[in-house]
Amino acid sequence: GSGALAVSLLPLAPMAASAAPVATVAPAAAPAPVAGGTTVNDSLFPEIGNTGYDVRHYKIALAYAPDGSVKATTTIEAKADKKLSSFSLDLEGLEVDRVRVEGRDATFARTGTKLVVTPAKAAGGTFTVVVKYHGKPVTHIDPDGAQDGWVPSKTGATALSEPVGAQTWFPNNNTPRDKATFDVALTVPKKLAAASNGVLRSRKTSGGRTTWSWRQKQPMATYLSLAAIGDFDVYRSTVKLQHGRKITAWSFVQPSLGKAEAQRKLLPKVLAFSEKQYGRYPFDGTGMVIQDLGVGYALETQTRPFFDGVPDDSTLVHELAHQWFGDSVTPRDWGDIWLNEGFATYAEANWAAEHGGPTTWQAFQKTYDGNDASSDLWKPAPNALEDPADLFGEPVYTRGGLTLEALRHRIGDAKMKTLLRAWSKNQAGRSVRTSQFVALAEKVSDQDLGWFFRSWLEVPSKPAGY
Ligand code: ARG
Ligand code: ZN
Repeated sequence: GSGALAVSLLPLAPMAASAAPVATVAPAAAPAPVAGGTTVNDSLFPEIGNTGYDVRHYKIALAYAPDGSVKATTTIEAKADKKLSSFSLDLEGLEVDRVRVEGRDATFARTGTKLVVTPAKAAGGTFTVVVKYHGKPVTHIDPDGAQDGWVPSKTGATALSEPVGAQTWFPNNNTPRDKATFDVALTVPKKLAAASNGVLRSRKTSGGRTTWSWRQKQPMATYLSLAAIGDFDVYRSTVKLQHGRKITAWSFVQPSLGKAEAQRKLLPKVLAFSEKQYGRYPFDGTGMVIQDLGVGYALETQTRPFFDGVPDDSTLVHELAHQWFGDSVTPRDWGDIWLNEGFATYAEANWAAEHGGPTTWQAFQKTYDGNDASSDLWKPAPNALEDPADLFGEPVYTRGGLTLEALRHRIGDAKMKTLLRAWSKNQAGRSVRTSQFVALAEKVSDQDLGWFFRSWLEVPSKPAGY
């Protein structure tokens, strides 16, 4: 008993090796706590993510004031891999007031975008971290120059979190390989509305402020988290899915953009089309956020995609396809981004083909033949990115989409359909690598596709054939 206590008081990670002989004379001793790591070694974003634990749930309670400042508490339930003497979270900007671990005050330090927490007592098993913070959240500038994270709008602010912006509005483990469930409660002046992910659990007004409480029950990557606060018109409707399932759509539309009636009518049709192609819709809520924010892109925020202005059909189809490819089945590493964008681009072609456009094969040939070897379309290869500025570039989207059409051409329609349905079913809620898709494609088709995928995804030149 007392031997174990002595060992647990030994110094931390760097001393672990020298602590070992002590443990051999006291066999009951627990291993010395270790410090969590401050990177998951993502191939494109080495600074994001933390190791030593796995987040299970985020509970974010954020109050927004008309001057643009926030006051918030984020509660994180995590599971430690080993006893942790310290661990880190990703957080950019904001001021941290207090951190508690398992109900006890912890010491904390900020270095770069890391919030390093040292609990009073080493954290092991399932543990709870409460971070209280406040301030004016910053907007993050992406490697490609685009804005994400907290973006102020004319009447409020919208938080878009891909790829790393989530860290501008709540502390988290900001890697797509650590998915968790979410409860987000946004308290806003009562004349404003506040959207987040999943289903609306309650909406309560008191003292001139309304709290919108959202719940995302299916695991979500931090980059898909959403907060949209502003003077929106709010539309609620029921959407019928396959097998008699019914879910509620909540859509938020900037009043000056009209009612977005055509888009709100199209949404259930696109969901029905996508279920037919890819299988069951993976979530229990839906809707859209439509506003002129000025970021210049749409985003597949989980359950409730964001549109920077009223979207055309193709953009709506793209962001809804992401609900299967990206949101439910998530890349483990940002270098696997083609698993999102290639698939969503392929979905656009499928929709167009069934709605008066060219066949997917005609569209493929037009792009393939129309881009000779010198075209920027072929470089860098979609699954061999070296620069994070290329994450949302033409090769990832278009060459990624062409890869799937070339695959369909090779393995046939029926097997392609089987493959996409099996991929979204088997990997729902998970984080995956490209090699897992390749393995499944080989299994479904009973073909060796190593050479095919290498030439389409990894070689930085125009694939010689299909
Ligand atoms: N994933 C978004 C879309 O297709 C695009 C995000 C663009 N973000 C950026 N930083 N450029 O559909
Ligand atoms: Zn996309």
